Amino acid sequence: MSNKLHLLLLEWYDTHARVLPWRQTKAGSREPYQVWLSEILLQQTQVSRASSYYESFLEAFPTLQDLAAAPLDTVLKLWEGAGYYARARSLHRAAQIMAESGTPSAYLAWLELPGVGRYTAAAIASLSTNQAVAAVDGNVRRVLARLENNANPSEDWLWATATSYLEKDRAGAWNEALIELGATICKPKKPLCLECPIAKHCLAFRANTMLSVPAPKARAKVKLVKAVALLLHFGGEVYLELRPKNGLLGGLYGVPLESISTTLEAALELLLKRYTPLHSLGGWCGEVSHTMTHRQFEISVFALESKRPDLVRPTTRAIANLDRKILKLLESGLPVTSS
Ligand code: ADE
Repeated sequence: MSNKLHLLLLEWYDTHARVLPWRQTKAGSREPYQVWLSEILLQQTQVSRASSYYESFLEAFPTLQDLAAAPLDTVLKLWEGAGYYARARSLHRAAQIMAESGTPSAYLAWLELPGVGRYTAAAIASLSTNQAVAAVDGNVRRVLARLENNANPSEDWLWATATSYLEKDRAGAWNEALIELGATICKPKKPLCLECPIAKHCLAFRANTMLSVPAPKARAKVKLVKAVALLLHFGGEVYLELRPKNGLLGGLYGVPLESISTTLEAALELLLKRYTPLHSLGGWCGEVSHTMTHRQFEISVFALESKRPDLVRPTTRAIANLDRKILKLLESGLPVTSS
């Protein structure tokens, strides 16, 4: 489809697109490695944060081969703080697959890689080689729902509508223009309709329903997890264990935790038994709350000085934000019990 709306949006995009690191290209075309890396980083991460991770990753791993050859721990360390660590593990596995079998070119081949879903495959294929596939992320969902004044767009409707609007000659620019419009103009709570290049084509604008379209999605329930943590430490070093690969925060190092299934005392006793054969008592040193998308953690932290030989400086390991908060308590003058 190519009509007035397309011309207006593409012209706006050509003149207003934000300067973002993955948009800076020498020859006007984008390297698949860079597009893939940026799209993985942009999953569930704001553009400003994704930008700084993108730059660090490209500096550490200028090529796909560099990333594939790096140890997973190095990748996790660089990913630190970005959340959703399964993405980092998929990124690394996908890099190894591509280093061995070559970088995909077709949309369907991108879709086969770990960590690459329908949106990401379409974004990479269209942005790197201009393949005519529509890409629907949260921004595009909002723009399309408003354009058509559809308060409750189904997934099928969204992909079909995105495909019918796709500007095939400039598929990459078109997809990114929709994303850009959603991120900077067609915002969820405060859409800037007076600055929107396609407002006159927008049915929600005409009906003045922008604020209720699309209707908010029902939020996934957040599960409360209560746990105790044990900070075994000495001289600024701590004991960190590697969490099981497939569990929560898997593959990262963290402070030993035990979730509370009956009482706090029982959970603490289990932890102490595991780590201090002498059954010394840990001293309570604070509470940590941490919210992730589906979980709200409430953690009672106990500390114990320990001279076990496997203590490490926390900065030498990839650790999650949750553990960072727990470790912060070390800096704030703990009530300490010695073993
Ligand atoms: N979000 C996902 N892909 C993006 C892109 N290419 N530019 C800006 N935000 C994005």
